[in-house]
Amino acid sequence: MHTKQNIQRPSNGTREKSIMLEIKDLKKSFGDNHVLNGFNLKLFEGENLVIMGKSGSGKSVMIKCLVGLLQADSGTIKIMDHEINTLNQTDLDTLRTEIGFLFQGSALYDSMTVRENLEFPLRRHKSKLNNAENIDKLVHEALENVGLVHAIDLMPAELSGGMKRRIALARTLILKPKIILYDEPTSGLDPITSKEIIELMRNVQKQYKTSSLIITHDVDCARVVSERIILLVDGVNYAEGTFNELASSTDAQVKAFFK
Ligand SMILES: Nc1ncnc2c1ncn2[C@@H]1O[C@H](COP(=O)(O)OP(=O)(O)O)[C@@H](O)[C@H]1O
Ligand SMILES: [Mg+2]
Repeated sequence: MHTKQNIQRPSNGTREKSIMLEIKDLKKSFGDNHVLNGFNLKLFEGENLVIMGKSGSGKSVMIKCLVGLLQADSGTIKIMDHEINTLNQTDLDTLRTEIGFLFQGSALYDSMTVRENLEFPLRRHKSKLNNAENIDKLVHEALENVGLVHAIDLMPAELSGGMKRRIALARTLILKPKIILYDEPTSGLDPITSKEIIELMRNVQKQYKTSSLIITHDVDCARVVSERIILLVDGVNYAEGTFNELASSTDAQVKAFFK
């Protein structure tokens, strides 16, 4: 386990891995509620980095600052070497197409079929389409990857909770993002469905070579998907390490997450 003063990354072979995402000294308060007090992270190419923290500790606030839904008070956010505060709107929008989100809940459009839900991001970001690709092919490919081609003409109301989440993941994958942000991907799902989603996240990492930031307080999820874990406590990185390093920690605050 590494303390805040001694954060190192695991050695992943000889080649230096590039940094996909970097947050430095991020601060965000709501009035007297100091949520983030200097949070840092680096997400390396191809890795799954898990952020764990108690409910209300600022995990969603951190991700919202990252994607621009909230304005941080201070700190810097770099996405693939671009500091987002220095970009104009057009460049920022382009950069955002490299990032997929899977938010708490699935956020599918209830009045659209599965097919229409998946077509939606493609129509919005036409520049992401290669000439050889057509929308229909991409929709099928994305559905195949989550095992739900047969659901293509269903409405969201006809899907189970687990299916909805898989469709939401397919919709994220359709733009072939380099980075995926997952906010509580298994919350509200039964254990078996959770397992399916966790397995899917692993497959996505392998097949699409994505780098992912995963917020979860599901210990099983963290164990299976993470290369590295950061514990967020009192708005800062309290501890960082592999699952096994943190799970065997003697620190009371760390132990509390893994009991
Ligand atoms: N838009 C907002 N306005 C005011 N307070 C907020 C807002 N969003 C989040 N908060 C507060 O920030 C803290 C962290 O929330 P959040 O990041 O959602 O926690 P979690 O770690 O469970 O995702 C909470 O105290 C929450 O009430
Ligand atoms: Mg949250």
